[in-house]
Parts: sequence; C-alpha cells; structure tokens
Amino acid sequence: MDLKEMAAAEAVKLVRDGMVVGLGSGSTASIAIRLLGEKVRNGWKLVGVPTSRDSEELARSVGITIDELKNHPTVDLTIDGADEVDPDLNLIKGLGGALVREKIIAAATKYEVIVVDGSKLVDYLGQKAPLPVEIVKFASESTMHRLKRFGCVPVLREKNGIAFITDNGNLIADCRFQKIDDPKKLEADLNLVPGVVDNGLFVGLAHRVIVASKDGLKTLERKS
Ligand code: A5P
Repeated sequence: MDLKEMAAAEAVKLVRDGMVVGLGSGSTASIAIRLLGEKVRNGWKLVGVPTSRDSEELARSVGITIDELKNHPTVDLTIDGADEVDPDLNLIKGLGGALVREKIIAAATKYEVIVVDGSKLVDYLGQKAPLPVEIVKFASESTMHRLKRFGCVPVLREKNGIAFITDNGNLIADCRFQKIDDPKKLEADLNLVPGVVDNGLFVGLAHRVIVASKDGLKTLERKS
C-alpha cells in the first residue's frame, strides 16, 4: 500500500454507516472516495457532499449518493487532502484548485479529517507550497497587483497553456511567500482585497490530520 492509500484507509475507518460525508478533492481524497464506494457496495447508506466536480463525478461512479450542502447544513465528517500542514494543524490547500468549495464544506463539518503523506508536514506555512488565491476574472491584473503588496509573488495559474478556471468560473493566483508568520491574519486580510473570492489558508478547520510516512501512520489532533 502506498502512503496516500495508508492515510486514506485510516481516515475511512472513522466513517460510520448513515453519515453525511464531505468528499475532498485531490489524489489522496480520491482514494478515500473509492474506499467509501466499497462501503456503499457492501450495503452502507452514505450521503456524499463533494468539494469539486471531479470528486462528484468520481463519487457517482463508485455508487455514492450525492447531495448538496443546502440539504445537509451539517456534514458529519469530511476527508480531504492538503498541500501543507503546520504544527498547529493549519493548512495550505488548493493546489488542485478546489479551495473555495473545500473551505465552505470544511466550515460546515463537525469533524474535518485531513489525509497526507509525510512530505506535506512543514515547520511553517509557505515553506514549500505557494498559497492559492481564487480571484474573479474581472480586472484580475489589478487584483494580482494588490496581492503583491502582501509580499508575495503571484503567478496566474495555467493549465495546458491557458488560464486555469475553477469550478466556480474564477482564476487562481498562486502566491509564493517566503514564510507565512500569521496565517489567521493573512487569511482574513487577503479576503478583504476586492476581487478575491477566498484563499487556501485553512486556519482552525482541521480536527485531525492523518500522516502516512515510511515509518508508519501518525495521527495529529487539534489541541483545542
Ligand atoms: C485541492 O484543491 C487541494 O486542496 C487538495 O486537497 C490538495 O491539493 C491535496 O492533493 P493531493 O492529495 O493530491 O496531494
């Protein structure tokens, strides 16, 4: 079993029959979705609330019943990936481009479980990954210019040579910071910039992080 599979399988052990489950995005969360599909084929009744169109498509293909958040204002448990995890379990997410829906669903979730391999653990956010910021298309150059004032280098994300478009029809500016000293403040401040929809800082949202490394599984719990 590879590391992502180990972490995803451990997270799926927390799911119970009858739960409303938030379905994360990215390669590790996708493994969890497939494993949840096995549970459904064994007779479990789960309702999946997907964080992206890709996750929705995958979940449907493995037999999971899908519903919208409006019909389940509280999600029992979400399994999602992350791009960086700091010692306080704050996260950078969104290298897959699904950060807005991921954050909405995380905020509605009673127990948010993050599944990563050991390479995602960092001493501070920004150590390895850029911070994805979702911005509207209108006057995006001006928004990118304002983002630079936070001390980062924003780069408009592209896919196959053209601008990457999110499930919400927006753009992503990947902002490379040297070091993010105060994730909570930066998360709030970035969202005050006109044109910014949301950013990939997830502060105080993860309850548990399951880390798989070559030494085995490690579970990190939020302290408060
Ligand atoms: C998707 O937008 C991201 O937040 C993913 O959760 C993140 O990129 C992790 O993906 P992997 O599990 O593929 O590394």
